[in-house]
Amino acid sequence: MKYQKPKGTADILPTQSAAWQYVEGVARKLFNQYRYHEIRTPMFENYEVFSRTSGETSDIVTKEMYDFNDKGGRHITLRPEGTAGVVRAFIENKLYGPEVQKPLKVYYMGPMFRYERPQSGRLREFHQIGVEAFGVDSPDLDVEVMAMAVDFLHRLGLSGLRIALNTLGDVESRKAYRQALIDFLTPYEAELSDDSKERLHKNPLRVLDSKDEHDQEIVKDAPSILDYLTPAAQEHFDQVKRLLDELGIEYEVDPNMVRGLDYYNHTIFEIMSNAQAFGGKWMTVCAGGRYNGLVEQLGGPETPGIGFGIGVERLLLILEAEQGNLPTDDQLDVYVVGIGAETDAATLRVVQALRQQGISADRDYLARKPKGQFKTASRLNARYTLTIGQQELANQTANLKEMATGTERQVSLADVEQHFNELLK
Ligand code: HAM
Repeated sequence: MKYQKPKGTADILPTQSAAWQYVEGVARKLFNQYRYHEIRTPMFENYEVFSRTSGETSDIVTKEMYDFNDKGGRHITLRPEGTAGVVRAFIENKLYGPEVQKPLKVYYMGPMFRYERPQSGRLREFHQIGVEAFGVDSPDLDVEVMAMAVDFLHRLGLSGLRIALNTLGDVESRKAYRQALIDFLTPYEAELSDDSKERLHKNPLRVLDSKDEHDQEIVKDAPSILDYLTPAAQEHFDQVKRLLDELGIEYEVDPNMVRGLDYYNHTIFEIMSNAQAFGGKWMTVCAGGRYNGLVEQLGGPETPGIGFGIGVERLLLILEAEQGNLPTDDQLDVYVVGIGAETDAATLRVVQALRQQGISADRDYLARKPKGQFKTASRLNARYTLTIGQQELANQTANLKEMATGTERQVSLADVEQHFNELLK
C-alpha cells in the first residue's frame, strides 16, 4: 500500500524549510519593530466561531469548511482563517481591559484549512502570516497596518505589486448600498447563477464577488458603494487615502472589491502580484481590512479592529520566481574528519564538545575514506575541517584547515572548542 498526502496539502521538505524560516524570521523582526506580539490560538474552534463571523453566504462557510463532530458530539471546524479565532481569544481572555494598552496589536503564523479546488497558490492546507489590531478606530491605524504589509513585502525584495483599496462604509452606508444593489439586481434575477440568486436577498454584496462569468457581466454596471457612503464613512476613507499619499504608498481604488469574508467594513485592501508563477494573472498575496463590530458579534464589548493575512505559499512562489534561491543561514562551521576506526571515539567527543559550545559541527558516520570525507566537507560548504588521524591521536592534536584559504595548523585536542570560539568570533 502506497500512501500519499491528502489532496491540496504539501510536504515542506528540509531543502525548502530554510526559505520558510527566512520569511518567518523577517516577519517576526518587522512585527517586533511595529510592536506587534505573537498570539497562538487553537487550530480548531467551535463551528459557530467561523459560521457567525465569516458570513453564512460566504464560500468559506457554505463550501469550504473542514468541519466535523468530535467524539463528544461537538461541532468543530479546522480554522479557515485567523481573525475569528483571535477575536474569540481576545474576548475570552478579556484583552480589552482598561489596563491593556490600545491598540492591542498581535500577529500569528500557521496553517489554515479550506476545502478549495487546488491549483498553483491555492491549497487545502495553507499557511498565513497575519496581524490584528484592536481598540482604535482611527484611519491612522488602517494606514499603519497597510504600510506594515507593504514594508514586509519590500523587505523581502518584492516589486511590481499592486495595491487595491476600497471601503465598505459603516452600517448605515452598507444598508443603503444593500438596497441599491437589490434594486439593481432584481430585474436580472432569473439570469443570475444559482449561488447569486440565493445571495441576492441574503447578502447582495456577495453577488459582486461571483466567479460566474455571466454574473460578472451583469454586475459590471452595478451601483458603487462609493456613492452610498455616509459623511463619516466618506471622511474615514478620505483620510486613509490622504495618509497613504503622505507615506508615498501607491494604490488604486477598486469600488467593486468586496472580499470573501463578511465581517469587513470601512477600509478593505488587497496586495497583488502578477509574478510568472501565476501565469501572468494577478494573484492576491495579502488581504485585509477593518472589522468594527466583529468583537460584539462574538459577544465582546464594542471594539474596533483591523488586520491582514498573507498567504505564505503564494509569497514563496513569487519570491522563487523573482529571486531564485533565498538567503539562508545554513553555515557549517566545522567538519571533523576521522582517519581509521581508532579515531572514532575522539571524533565523536570533539563533535559533541563543539556543538555544546554552540558551534555547528558534523562528521562522517559511514567509515568513509578521508577523500570522501573531504568531498563531503566541501559539499556542505564547511568553513573548517578538523582532521584526526592516528598520528594526531597519539599527540592529542588535530589538523585544522581553513577551507577558503587552505591554511593549515595543528591544534591541541584538549582546547579545540576554545580555539574555535576564538576563530569564529
Ligand atoms: P483571505 O483573503 O481569506 O483573508 O486570506 C488572506 C490570504 O491568504 C489570501 O490573500 C491568500 O494569499 C491566502 N490564501 C487564502 N486562501 C488560500 C488558499 N486556499 N491557498 C493558499 N493561500 C490562500 C483572511 O483570511 C483574513 N483573515 C485576513 C484578515 C486578517 N483580515 C483582517 N485580519
